[in-house]
Amino acid sequence: MGVRSEVWYLLSSPLAKLQFTNALWDENARLNTVSPAGQMEAADDDILPAVPELNMPPRHIKKGDIVSYQDYVISRMSQVWGEDAAVFNPSRWFRENGESISYSPFKYHSWNAGPRSCLGRALATYEGIAITTAILQRFDITLEDTSRPYEPLATLNMVCGLF
Ligand code: HEM
Repeated sequence: MGVRSEVWYLLSSPLAKLQFTNALWDENARLNTVSPAGQMEAADDDILPAVPELNMPPRHIKKGDIVSYQDYVISRMSQVWGEDAAVFNPSRWFRENGESISYSPFKYHSWNAGPRSCLGRALATYEGIAITTAILQRFDITLEDTSRPYEPLATLNMVCGLF
């Protein structure tokens, strides 16, 4: 069995069919993104392409400019996600007819978009859904402390972990 067939197996496994669990995962990754912000320095003068999904026009940037994205903020902006942007709402991932919605990565930006997108997205999603389903099949979980404060580091860490 070669690498390609293993990757195919991973992507075509029944986990991808767990529509509601996938929606839970995506909604969690949208609001509680591991990567709340990122920034880069322009190596040369450039033009950032328009992002129609966010009504953003093309932007000129100059060599040395710092360009950052703020995923923690984007996911809470009503202009991007509607009035309930800050609410954990897995049903935003479904159309009225029950089909799953696949949002543009420029809108659901938790994995970055374009050529520098996260290379581990499929693996992280697979692991997250496999672990979530394995736990929920065996345990009923109640959080003792629902405040869940974050530490503002390069990644979004929970102050005392989950449990
Ligand atoms: C929930 C889990 C994860 C999230 C939310 C996430 C998110 C991201 C984001 C936002 C970036 C872009 C960073 C930037 O350039 O500003 C990124 C890049 C990257 N991620 Fe992930 N990631 C996750 C898990 C993983 C895993 C498990 C792997 C590897 C197995 C991985 C591999 C990478 C690599 C290699 C890049 C750099 C891509 C490039 O610059 O060309 N990620 N990830």
